[in-house]
Amino acid sequence: MTLLKDSTVLVTGANGGIGAALVQAALDRGARRVYAAARTEKQWDDERVVPLHLDLTDAVSIEQAAATASDTTVLINNAAIFPHGDLLTAPWEQVTEVIEINLTAPIRLTRALAPALRSAKGALVNVNSVLSWFAVGKAHSVSKAGLWMATNAFRLELAPDGVQVLGVYPGPTDTPMQAGKDPAGMNKPADVATAIYDALEAGEHELLVDDMTRKVHSALSAPVTALYPALAQ
Ligand SMILES: NC(=O)c1ccc[n+]([C@@H]2O[C@H](COP(=O)([O-])OP(=O)(O)OC[C@H]3O[C@@H](n4cnc5c(N)ncnc54)[C@H](OP(=O)(O)O)[C@@H]3O)[C@@H](O)[C@H]2O)c1
Repeated sequence: MTLLKDSTVLVTGANGGIGAALVQAALDRGARRVYAAARTEKQWDDERVVPLHLDLTDAVSIEQAAATASDTTVLINNAAIFPHGDLLTAPWEQVTEVIEINLTAPIRLTRALAPALRSAKGALVNVNSVLSWFAVGKAHSVSKAGLWMATNAFRLELAPDGVQVLGVYPGPTDTPMQAGKDPAGMNKPADVATAIYDALEAGEHELLVDDMTRKVHSALSAPVTALYPALAQ
C-alpha cells in the first residue's frame, strides 16, 4: 500500500481531464509536493504544485524532467493521445506517434525514475484503458495493450524492492479526449482520481474502473467472437 500523505507525486498530462483531477486529489490527500508535468506548464493555486515541462515525444525532455523530479515517490503515467484512424490506413506518422507517446515514453520515464521509486519504496501508476483489451481504438488500442504488458513487467521487476505498481483501466470518461461525445454514462475525472488513490492506498495491483471495463476484461477468457460478434457471422 502507498499512502498519499507526505508523498511526492509526478503526474504526466497534468493539464488534461484525469491529470488535473489527479493533481487536485493528491493535494487533498496531503501530498507534500506534486509535479504537474505538461507540454505547456500552467500556474496552480497551491504552492505544493511544481509545474514541470515534459514533452513525451522528446527523449531529452523526459530525461530532464526525471532529473528535476528525482525526489518523486509516486509516478503516474497518465498522458496519452487518441488519434482516430485505422491501423492499415492512418498516416504512418500517426501510428508511430501514438505508440511513442502512449507506450515508449512512459517506459522511458519509468526507467529514468525507477531509482527514485526504489529508494522511496514508492509506487508506479499507469493509466491504461478498457482499450488495452478491446481493439476498437486501433493504433491507440495497440499502444494501450502494450502499456498493459509493460505494467505487468514493471510490477515483477519492481516488487522485490517494495515498489507498488498499479494498472488503471477506465472506460469512457468525460474529458477533452471525449470531446463532442455525449458525457451521459461516462466516468467523471474526479471519481476516477478518487478510485485510483483508494486503490493505491489499499495496495491493489489493478483497478478496473467501471462495469464496461469489467465486462470486456471478463470476455477475454471466452472465444474471440465474444468481444467481436461480427466475426461470428
Ligand atoms: N477519457 C477517456 O474516455 C479515457 C478512457 C480510458 C483511458 N483514458 C486514459 O486516461 C488518460 C488521461 O486521458 P484524459 O481522458 O484525461 O485525456 P486528455 O484530457 O486529453 O489529457 C491527455 C493529456 O496528455 C497530454 N499529452 C498529449 N501528448 C503529450 C506529449 N507529447 N507530451 C506530454 N503530454 C502530452 C495532453 O497535453 P496537452 O494538454 O498539452 O495536449 C493532455 O493534457 C490517458 O492515458 C487516456 O488514454 C481515458
